Amino acid sequence: MTQLSVNVDHVATLRQARGASYPTPVEAARIAEAAGASGITAHLRVDRRHIQDADVDELRSVVRGKLNLEMSTADEMLELACRVRPDQVTLVPERPEEVTTEGGLDLAAAGPAIQAAIRRLRDAGIAVSLFIDPDPEQIRRLADFSNDLAAGFEINTDHYTRPGADANRELERIVDAAAMGAEWGLRVYAGHGLTTENVRRVSEIPVVRELNIGHFIVSRAVIVGMERAVKEMLAAMG
Ligand code: PXP
Repeated sequence: MTQLSVNVDHVATLRQARGASYPTPVEAARIAEAAGASGITAHLRVDRRHIQDADVDELRSVVRGKLNLEMSTADEMLELACRVRPDQVTLVPERPEEVTTEGGLDLAAAGPAIQAAIRRLRDAGIAVSLFIDPDPEQIRRLADFSNDLAAGFEINTDHYTRPGADANRELERIVDAAAMGAEWGLRVYAGHGLTTENVRRVSEIPVVRELNIGHFIVSRAVIVGMERAVKEMLAAMG
């Protein structure tokens, strides 16, 4: 069965909007795990727009399943990860002006920095995943990293989920990328833009082990509560 890692960034977004002390990502993480999530994801951005350093420390002590920390290869992030030791780090590209992660890593341009980050994290006992577009060129390049990747890679589902997209074509790209990566023995994850409406076709791809879903679940939780929002998503995943 495909597992669900709940991204709690936007619980922190709500808190930071007022500079308040509530709601906390940790409270949301506890409820999400109790409702059936296999793990929790948080993205510590260089600009600290939502998740703060203290949130990562607290999540480390509270999360019972897999704690997945999304981050760039910036030195301060690598230092923090090696200190906090999440179960997994997902390396993502980060641009200060973007609203959300806009695409996968460019393994050609950023290859050496990514390779160095993977080794540093791996030496600290942290599994590493790379966020990658379902682009055959990028997926082919993953093979160069496969020996060092203890975790695997996360396929960016953004294009598939966009309104007006050719969902069948975009899904095919995801299926092909998943099959290619799995053939090299990599674990396959997926996420970005997933909702209860579009999740099933991704969760049904047999080699996809885990989905990483945040904005929709947190948005739904504001209306119906985190427990129900997570259970609804798990039901939609099948
Ligand atoms: N995966 C990665 C690498 C992301 O950066 C994000 C957004 O933080 C997600 C998954 C989750 O996307 P969404 O919030 O749209 O569910």
